[in-house]
Formats: sequence, structure tokens, C-alpha cells
Amino acid sequence: MRHTLNKTIVLVGMMGAGKTAVGRALAAKIGAPFLDSDAEIVQAANMSIPEIFSRDGEPFFRARETEVIRRLLNADEKSILSTGGGAFLAEENRSLISDLGVSVFLEADLDLLWSRVGHKDTRPLLRTPNPRATLAEIFEVRAPVYARADIKVTAQPEYSIAQMADKVLAAL
Ligand code: S3P
Repeated sequence: MRHTLNKTIVLVGMMGAGKTAVGRALAAKIGAPFLDSDAEIVQAANMSIPEIFSRDGEPFFRARETEVIRRLLNADEKSILSTGGGAFLAEENRSLISDLGVSVFLEADLDLLWSRVGHKDTRPLLRTPNPRATLAEIFEVRAPVYARADIKVTAQPEYSIAQMADKVLAAL
């Protein structure tokens, strides 16, 4: 199905919510381009996200993230854009997204998020003595901000990626 988007669909939410996987499935389903802000940053820097955080620091990463979001949202071709979990926290990013896109919060509870990110070592923010407690703290701070997205779709452990993509599409 070719679906002409008149705005870029921006997926926001916590690490492990499924933004990249669901975004890719949704893009394939409607025949729209799929973009991922983390992947764009990694490609431009030619470094992994943990390398960027440890070499240049989180503020540098956040500045690159805003640049990438601005550039991708201003592109003529509308797309499905997956963002890193911290992207929606910055006022500047939220305002770019609300001007030029539609924000979709992929909500998931802490157990589901942890089951997906707990065994991975790719999230620098979780490199702490107690990563589960850190994830819980981040979750608590961010939940009210994510709730400001235009649309919310809630994940459940039993939902497949394709089902989540269908739910997002139905909510648009
Ligand atoms: C971050 C989430 C990551 C990545 C970076 C920071 C965050 O993206 O942008 O590690 O602040 O939550 P995912 O949400 O895709 O894991």
C-alpha cells in the first residue's frame, strides 16, 4: 500500500519501546521512507552511540540529535522517523516535531522495557551499578513528557512488531 504522508510521523518513547522496529515495519507497510535519528548520528560521526557519549559527552550527542531531527523534519519527502529515547525531552525538539510532524508515543511498562534492554550494553545511560533502577528513574521523569505526544499506542508483551505497526496506523 502506498500511503502519502502529509506529515512526518515521529516515534517517541523509552529505550526498548520498539521505536525502531515498529517504525521500520510501519514504513514498509505504507511504502514510506524509514529514518532513525540515532542511526543518522552514528553514520555522520562514524562512531557508535556509547563511543560518542564517552568521547564527546551527552550534550554533544543531544546537539547532534536536534540537528538531525531538524534536517529530517524539514526534508520535502515525509517519512517515518524513529527518535532516541531522550529526543522528546528537549523543548526545541518537541516544538520542531509539533510544527512539522505528528508525534506517536510508544508506551510500554517498565518490565517490558527492561526485558528488552536489560541484557544489552548499547545504552550509555544504563551503564550504572544498578541499571534497572536507573531505567526506572528515567522512566518516571520522562513519562509525563512522552504523554504530551499527539498519539499514544501502548505495547504489550504479546503484541508482535507487525501488530504494533497496525495499531499505530489505525491511530493516525
Ligand atoms: C537514549 C536512547 C537511545 C540513544 C541514546 C540515548 C535516551 O535510543 O538515543 O542512548 O536518552 O533514552 P533508543 O531509545 O533507541 O534506545
